[in-house]
Amino acid sequence: MVKKKKRKTTRDRWSSHWIFLFAAIGSAVGIGNVWRFPYLAGKYGGGAFLIPYLIVLFLLGIPILILEYALGRRMQRGAVGAFGKINSKLKGVGVNAVFVGFIVCAYYSVVMAWSLIYFLHSFRVSWAPNPKEFFFTNVLEISSNIRFLDGINWIIFAALIAVWVLIYFCVWKGTKSVGKVVMITMPLPVLLIIVMAIRGITLPGSLEGILFYLTPNFRALFDIQVWNAAISQIFFTLSIAFGIMIAYASFNAEMQIKKDAWIIAVINSAISLIAGFAVFATLGFMAARQGLPVSEIAAAGPSLAFIAFPQALSLMPFAALFSLIFFITLISLAIDSAFSLVESVSTVFSDKFKKLSKPWIAAGVCFVGFLTGIIFTTRAGMYFLDLVDHFVTNYGLVLVGVAECVVIGWFYGAPRLRRYINRDADWKLGKWWDFSIKYLCPAVLLYLVIAQFVVDVTENYGGYPDWAIWIGWLVVLAPIAVSVVISLWPGKR
Ligand code: PHE
Repeated sequence: MVKKKKRKTTRDRWSSHWIFLFAAIGSAVGIGNVWRFPYLAGKYGGGAFLIPYLIVLFLLGIPILILEYALGRRMQRGAVGAFGKINSKLKGVGVNAVFVGFIVCAYYSVVMAWSLIYFLHSFRVSWAPNPKEFFFTNVLEISSNIRFLDGINWIIFAALIAVWVLIYFCVWKGTKSVGKVVMITMPLPVLLIIVMAIRGITLPGSLEGILFYLTPNFRALFDIQVWNAAISQIFFTLSIAFGIMIAYASFNAEMQIKKDAWIIAVINSAISLIAGFAVFATLGFMAARQGLPVSEIAAAGPSLAFIAFPQALSLMPFAALFSLIFFITLISLAIDSAFSLVESVSTVFSDKFKKLSKPWIAAGVCFVGFLTGIIFTTRAGMYFLDLVDHFVTNYGLVLVGVAECVVIGWFYGAPRLRRYINRDADWKLGKWWDFSIKYLCPAVLLYLVIAQFVVDVTENYGGYPDWAIWIGWLVVLAPIAVSVVISLWPGKR
């Protein structure tokens, strides 16, 4: 272990290296592992998705995660300040990251609100006979299409308020409160998911589901959409390009950057893979019972986890109790991801406006996050969520990733940052990393963004009307525009 060096700054610090690791894993592991990963795997053909997912994880995800850790640790600033220290015109990269992350958080908290509603319904396990119908009709009260907002669903709205209040109380004291909360919110849900996976595998028909999940389809490797889905998921799940990992690393006193990045990435993906077993085993069981092919049920999109898990839960002994525990842990799983984002945004403001107190900044961030999420609480909310998620993850996050690689690879110097990373490190980072950051990551990411762009201008995503697609583009362009303005704004850093 490396001794902590004395520092002059009074920067917030994690009370121990373990807490940093827990917090970073807590941010990575979230509903993304349990909700988003299985639905993408289902949508893109189970085993067809896994190969690109793993390739992208090792080739692009981990190198960029290492980049973000190193940058935060080196610069001792949140995302905006860290890029600003390289060159004040580059602050925009950080602004873009935080802005995009904020949009993700706005709909992410709505998925948390659905989980909260399921938690409350656990007392009556009323979804058991038809979990799909329950989700769309009883929980979402979904409108017939995106054109009909059909007003706000007040139950989701109230749940959303509760979610933001919860998030706020986790972060209001910065690393101190976060450190305490993650000791519970990280490990508990993981245990539960393992139990659900074991229960799933022992259900009749589960094998079909698991085969669907694991059988590779090499033809899918030629499908750009599958690669894009994999990339967007890796960014999402590792919380990279959100500015989060930069902020978290800036509170870190240790220097085990490569080792930490690997630990976090491997644990995170292992949890996704286990959640996949739980979901697909259950889908196999449902398919067998309904006499449908697994692929048909698996293609449910963002609703998948909310259909599969309730089904699995209803088959558990002490179903109500299990549901209660499951949904509360789902929320706790998500909460450390959500508050990591609030932390990342607050860090940017507290770096900049040293006089503002942290609790007030956090309150402001939470309030605006809540306001932004209101659109997803309407009866057409699910459509907007699907749409915004598509644009923000496929373009917003990936473009931030490209910019980060270009800044470090071409301006700051990848070898320079690598030397810093290797200082005092147990695991040394090889030269391949420089190549990866300078050429491989930006080239592959750019290629895929362009390919996705061609698809998205030729056909409307999800068959949504033109005006809705424009909202999608707006969500991509607004953060870019704001970042450019802030970068070019005259004045000191
Ligand atoms: N990594 C989180 C997950 O997989 C995603 C996320 C991070 C969402 C930060 C919001 C804020 O669930």
